[in-house]
Amino acid sequence: MSENIQKMQNVKSIREVNLKDKRVLIRVDFNVPMDSELNISDDTRIREAIPTINYCIDNGAKSIILVSHLGRPQGKSDSFSLKNILKRLERLLSKDVVFVDSLENAQVTLNTLVDGSIVLLENIRFYEGEEKNDSALSQKLASLCDVYVNDAFGTSHRKHASTYGIAQYAQEKVAGLLLKKEIDSFAVALSNPLRPLLLIVGGSKVSSKLTLLNSILNVVDKIIIGGAMSNTFLKAIGYDTKASLTEDNLLEDARSILRSAKEKGVKIYLPVDVVATDDIKDPKVVKIIPAQDIPDNLMAADIGPATVKLFNEVIKDCETIVWNGPLGAYETQKFSRGTFSISHAIADTYAYSIIGGGDTADAVDKAGNKDSMSFTSTGGGASLELLEGEVLPAFEVLDKRV
Ligand code: 3PG
Repeated sequence: MSENIQKMQNVKSIREVNLKDKRVLIRVDFNVPMDSELNISDDTRIREAIPTINYCIDNGAKSIILVSHLGRPQGKSDSFSLKNILKRLERLLSKDVVFVDSLENAQVTLNTLVDGSIVLLENIRFYEGEEKNDSALSQKLASLCDVYVNDAFGTSHRKHASTYGIAQYAQEKVAGLLLKKEIDSFAVALSNPLRPLLLIVGGSKVSSKLTLLNSILNVVDKIIIGGAMSNTFLKAIGYDTKASLTEDNLLEDARSILRSAKEKGVKIYLPVDVVATDDIKDPKVVKIIPAQDIPDNLMAADIGPATVKLFNEVIKDCETIVWNGPLGAYETQKFSRGTFSISHAIADTYAYSIIGGGDTADAVDKAGNKDSMSFTSTGGGASLELLEGEVLPAFEVLDKRV
């Protein structure tokens, strides 16, 4: 794992190239969550892209073209248009940004603009070739720039035209400040960490974290497992989890993880009590109960108070903490206490704490602990693949330091 992280750290940074009078294309990740009226509900990803854009302005770039996707559109549609984020971007940059609705118009627009202008291209996923890593699209994108900058950590696990293919045709291809910050922060936690190193893992499915659990056993000292995925582990060791969500086809995988953890000396902690309910979205019954005693027809929706105490003791003892996945159905108020308590417990330590993106970052924010964590990643899927030990494709294709 640490060898692969070093490889990713070894990519050339935007600070190592001359940007003066250059046309710069920055692949950003403006895939931000929006409500039904298309208001941005969390603009972290836009904010995190600002330092790289400002760096290009400050260093005399001739033009800056920003390329991103938004959501998973099936063809063109207004609700997936990046026009919806234009105002926020302009406000955060304190600068006008020119919106172009197609690649065809981008070149024409770029030729007419004054030096130092910023252009935002329409959702790159409106082009069929993007997700297919189409070479014609990659070439077109590369033709718009002298320097290609990847700053889209959240999309760095995708082999798409604007994250991967483009690099083959770009003259210079380097990492933006966010991409660098992300990989350097993960390196602190995983390459030569202060120990004990703890992984806290939650979320609903063991299946989505199976590779992670198997590979991370070689790296961490302790693992806390919560969320619905812990039900599968509890069932695997013989508990009757009743109506709880479990993946029965993975019971043997869960047992094998527990066995190899033991062989490798990695300690695994499972819930000792749960908050059980009849219905996660519309609960009529809510009971705190030992994990062995879940009543018929009820399911586990959160970790219980005894588990919070137990997990707190583990957390207090660790010097590095990596957290990926909530420990209960935290979106429902009655089942948020476990996840929020664990967030508070991490915030109270002096450990180096790193939060995987997506739901975990959202839970930490809702718990009011965002500023107390050492680093919160902007990548959900990307941070998971990184923790699995992969060299992420977007890093693979960038120029390397000699
Ligand atoms: C994300 O939100 O994880 C990234 O923007 C990647 O989006 P995708 O999963 O639709 O490729």
